[in-house]
Amino acid sequence: MPAELNPELLTDLARTHATPLWVYDAELIRQRIAELRSFDTIRFAQKACSNTHILRLMREQGVLVDSVSLGEVERALHAGYTLGGEPSEIVFTADLLDRPTLARIVELKVPVNAGSINMLHQLGAVSPGHRVWLRINPGFGHGHSQKTNTGGEHSKHGIWHADLPLALEAIAQHGLHLVGLHMHIGSGVDYSHLSQVCEAMVALAARVQSLGHDIEAISAGGGLSIPYREGDARIDVAHYFSLWDAARQKIAASLQHTVKLEIEPGRYLVAESGLLLSEVRAVKDMGANHFALVDAGFNELVRAAMYGGYHHISVVAGAGNAPLAERASLATVVAGPLCESGDVFTQEEGGVVTHRDLPAPAVGDLLVFHDTGAYGASMSSNYNSRPLCAELLVDGGKTRVIRRRQTIQELLALEDV
Ligand code: LLP
Repeated sequence: MPAELNPELLTDLARTHATPLWVYDAELIRQRIAELRSFDTIRFAQKACSNTHILRLMREQGVLVDSVSLGEVERALHAGYTLGGEPSEIVFTADLLDRPTLARIVELKVPVNAGSINMLHQLGAVSPGHRVWLRINPGFGHGHSQKTNTGGEHSKHGIWHADLPLALEAIAQHGLHLVGLHMHIGSGVDYSHLSQVCEAMVALAARVQSLGHDIEAISAGGGLSIPYREGDARIDVAHYFSLWDAARQKIAASLQHTVKLEIEPGRYLVAESGLLLSEVRAVKDMGANHFALVDAGFNELVRAAMYGGYHHISVVAGAGNAPLAERASLATVVAGPLCESGDVFTQEEGGVVTHRDLPAPAVGDLLVFHDTGAYGASMSSNYNSRPLCAELLVDGGKTRVIRRRQTIQELLALEDV
């Protein structure tokens, strides 16, 4: 947990802003950005945390952005990102172009990282000269869960490697401008797959060259892991860079000009900076199991329910409750308020409920879900008609509300038709 987000501050924030509540530490985001500076371009995969204030912080630090929907493009623009420069501050990555998105992308001239050949034809037909990247599925992938594996023949992502000639034909046919090659094979990098991706990228660039095309850049995609569990190793960023840099150099030598190297992380930049604060509202024993029920559910944080995603959970003693040091450790199932059996934070992929040893949680305690800055708030929903909760940014001792809590009236207003 970021040092600045200490239990006293969290108690104070919960009292002032109510729970559930997202809290981010700006300094830790800046630190993670600094660790990736050897790459020519750091492009934030904003799906991980798309709050416009976080995007502004990224832009101030020189971090560019990847958008995967029309909404994310508009968010980037709202946060001050502009278009027209090179490398483009915004790139749109997707496997399809819906009609409104295509129209806006063409109007704004947002470079497109194409994950299907149809995209190239649809774009080329209305916007010759448009700048494009090719997102290639190299035929293998890897993820912390099968659901975050974005390569191989069971994945819907990217242009199949063997279809590269067809993609290049589409580019030539429409006079599109090929900027670069991109691969993102999944979230949760491990080095054995990494060397494989780097080799695949070098081979791919050689094929592009042999088919008479050129590129200015390559993108390593995202997927850098973070240590969610105690004992998880921290990724060696220097080693990661060196593998990609070697690939880039081979490609540049073959093309006989410099080639820019991009990286496109989401989780690595923001996961550890964020936490979800909840309050214990009920405790109960169900046969052999002891439950602590908190006021945050999978509509806030879906990672456990969706992938068996693990988040460290800590307890902050509520006012008037026994200090943690005086409590026995208790194997606890931590669950939320939703009317749904899967609303359990301590579960493995496949829905197997597990326990967490916690200093016996009591009603009024705060439960803190750590490392939830990535794919936390951005994956929240209104399930059970629960409004989206507030987001706070702590920076240099100051706390700012960067999203207020949604109201139930706002939810109902959409249906006042
Ligand atoms: N680039 C592309 C093209 C991607 O599809 C993704 C993630 C990223 C970059 C960033 O990946 P990261 O560095 O954050 O691992 N909701 C899941 C993760 C889904 C990732 C989807 N694509 C989770 O909570 O773990």
